[in-house]
Amino acid sequence: MARKALGVPEIVASKGKKRLVMVTCYDATFARLVEAAEVDLVLVGDSLGMVIQGRADTLGVTMEQMVYHTRCVATGLRATHLVADMPFLSYQVSPEEALRNAGRLVAEGGAHAVKMEGGRRTAPAIRRCVDAGIPVMGHLGLTPQSVHQFGGFRVQGKGAEAAERLLEDARALVDAGVYSLVLESIPQDLAVRITREVPVPTIGIGASAACDGQVLVIYDLLGMDASFQPRFLKKFAHLADTIPGAIREYAREVREGLFPDEDHSF
Ligand code: KIV
Repeated sequence: MARKALGVPEIVASKGKKRLVMVTCYDATFARLVEAAEVDLVLVGDSLGMVIQGRADTLGVTMEQMVYHTRCVATGLRATHLVADMPFLSYQVSPEEALRNAGRLVAEGGAHAVKMEGGRRTAPAIRRCVDAGIPVMGHLGLTPQSVHQFGGFRVQGKGAEAAERLLEDARALVDAGVYSLVLESIPQDLAVRITREVPVPTIGIGASAACDGQVLVIYDLLGMDASFQPRFLKKFAHLADTIPGAIREYAREVREGLFPDEDHSF
């Protein structure tokens, strides 16, 4: 049977039955490769500000850039659930602006759903989008758009009070209508509590195997940056070693007059 993208009801129903696999993606070529690997969800993350644009954080990413990259990824996918990140200031100003911007990611970008960072303070924007028929994935814990408030990329939810606050945030997001929830860089015991409490799948990054699924930035899992090695990251390939080797080999063959050879000439 031909593969079909998971729908929101199937994603919600998967909780407790199967672990969800999500990876980020930013262009059509990677989208085709990711779909061939049969992941459950693809996220066009605003992490593109760091891994594509080379910035120190995600704060400079614009709506235009998110729409553009979402369109590129949607072009490369045929049958995978596609989520697009709402960039900084695209949903914080008002629920109306959130709806307009979320609508662009769906209508122009081709996303099936959007993701927004934050708990109680983001709930009204989430509710507005869900009421308009746009599925929303929540994101709690180390929410990178608040990096300056956190004083850096630091584990969140440590200690009883901080954990209670995040649990309250998770409840508020469920009330607002999220269909899934990313938990980033929080302690395992808190991931266990939130995952037990919420009726939607939690998708962890640096939040232990207690979550209902996992997400990684594609460039990180492929080991594209040898110098980036946070504790939570497992590299499933080491392309930072492989890619320069291939390019060096190409350069050597060009310099030595070995490429193009007869097999690669018209
Ligand atoms: O922007 C992103 O890639 C993300 C994931 C790491 C969850 O938000």
